[in-house]
Amino acid sequence: MSLVVLALLFAGGGTAVAVLLPWLPTAAALQASEIDPVFWMVIGIAIFIFAIVAAVIVYSVFAFRVPPDDDSDGPPVHGHVALEIVWTAIPTALVIAIGIYSAIVIQRLDQLPKHHLTVDVTAQQFAWTFKYPAAGGATSGELRLPLDEATLLRMTSLDVIHAFFVAQFRENEDVVPGMTTTLIVTPTRLGSYPVICNELCGLGHALMRAEAIVMPDKAFAAWEKSQSKATASPSPSVAGAAVFKNNGCGACHTLAATGATGKIGPALDKLPKWAAEAKQPLAAFIRTSIVSPNAYIQPGYPKNVMPKTFAALPKTQLDALVQYLISSSKKG
Ligand code: CUA
Repeated sequence: MSLVVLALLFAGGGTAVAVLLPWLPTAAALQASEIDPVFWMVIGIAIFIFAIVAAVIVYSVFAFRVPPDDDSDGPPVHGHVALEIVWTAIPTALVIAIGIYSAIVIQRLDQLPKHHLTVDVTAQQFAWTFKYPAAGGATSGELRLPLDEATLLRMTSLDVIHAFFVAQFRENEDVVPGMTTTLIVTPTRLGSYPVICNELCGLGHALMRAEAIVMPDKAFAAWEKSQSKATASPSPSVAGAAVFKNNGCGACHTLAATGATGKIGPALDKLPKWAAEAKQPLAAFIRTSIVSPNAYIQPGYPKNVMPKTFAALPKTQLDALVQYLISSSKKG
């Protein structure tokens, strides 16, 4: 009898902790309404098991206590077949139920509506890049998404395994070099949500963050347009600044003109000084350092940290970036 009371007490306590505290951030995607019930089902099962185990432990502490001077052995027990069947069968059934339900939900989350946007996500130590094939391949350091529209994320990594995670979307997926993993997100709430790397990927893992910005449909279309325009602008200060921002340079480098304060790589405000020390002309020094980062390593900084992928920047964007770095570093 007291065992039952104890179990109910623990179940009540566990339920209160689960329900009264705000464990989950605001749901901002359609997928959350599929994923959250799985979460709560598992929590419910966990509370059920916790209540039984905790009640038996606490009950036994008091019911089977021996006097302080009792040094005799306990009675020999041969086990209890019925109990063993029960505590094997129930957990087996529960785990299978979780597995089946999860498989159904995962299958449903993988269904891609015909009308959708596609974004190519590239992960590298320690930055995210988002590319929009429908907008002429414009890239961005932020994940902009239109409201109430399914977006297919095609993700790959340039170096090690990372993981794409947005808590408000409830979705997490590994981003693996040499293969493309996918995730479908249908944002249902305007706002800005942190994109977090959820796989320990090196020294800068904790800093590998970006923003997922959910925008109204029209604002998103306007942004897409302005993106492809900015990087193609004839003015190097407009185009170069856009290339700098879109490629996440500011995550690792400081450059006063952009407000970037990255500390992983050398400060770009000092480029004229670095170039003089390397005994190279400024423009050539900057260009080589972007397309072939290991050609010259600034003393005090490690090799193989700067991604080699910027060699693939379109020539116009690379030219604009070099021009921009020359003019803004000379000011600084
Ligand atoms: Cu990328 Cu952790």
